[in-house]
Amino acid sequence: MANPHELIEKNVGLLTILILVAISFGAMVQITPLMFQQQTMEPVTGLRPYTALEMEGRDIYIREGCSGCHSQMIRPFRAETERYGHYSVAGESVWERPFLWGSKRTGPDLARVGQRYSDEWHRVHLINPRDVVPESNMPGYPWLQDNILTGEKTGAKLQIFKDLGVPYTDEDIAGAKAAVQGKTEMEALIAYLQSLGTHLK
Ligand code: HEC
Repeated sequence: MANPHELIEKNVGLLTILILVAISFGAMVQITPLMFQQQTMEPVTGLRPYTALEMEGRDIYIREGCSGCHSQMIRPFRAETERYGHYSVAGESVWERPFLWGSKRTGPDLARVGQRYSDEWHRVHLINPRDVVPESNMPGYPWLQDNILTGEKTGAKLQIFKDLGVPYTDEDIAGAKAAVQGKTEMEALIAYLQSLGTHLK
């Protein structure tokens, strides 16, 4: 009789089914326990939802592809915690959709960059990084200074997050447009950066 390996390897249909079973089992073992752990579902103390302006800034961060070079996930290793601060915990990300943890670090991790530099530093850096970090290879984003937010969709964005369980109030949503209207994309992005990782001290 042929050994079972040969049977599986020569039968693509069976091989596919068994691969799917193996992967699903692996995923279940990893994911199922997390769904029942309070720690991974509850916001850390002091976590607050993004303000309307920070929310617009976050969308600009996504649009400009910042996460292609920057992670927002500090791993629990000494080399990382000494450089970036406390490692990231699940309770800080419960209201993040989508997650911006990233997987590439051409530049430093940004999970706790909030309040590390002044707004002015960020402004100069985002227009031309070489003005503050001469050896930087980060691209400049000068147009963020010129693009003005209309706030047309800001309320709707907050509403969607509210529907997904983020505790926005009706006043937050009603005031969202006025809170961002006339501000530059630069201001929004900096507000977002300054909020990062400031909840866990
Ligand atoms: C091509 C890769 C690349 C992209 C894209 C990129 N960066 Fe950077 N970034 C870097 C590098 C490299 C550094 C380190 C040198 C420096 O400070 O400029 C850096 C540094 C930074 C810093 C300072 C971090 C610290 O702790 O000193 C911030 C803040 C930052 N980037 C924000 C952004 C934002 C916001 C965007 C998107 C608008 C962005 N970066 C896009 C590569 C990139």
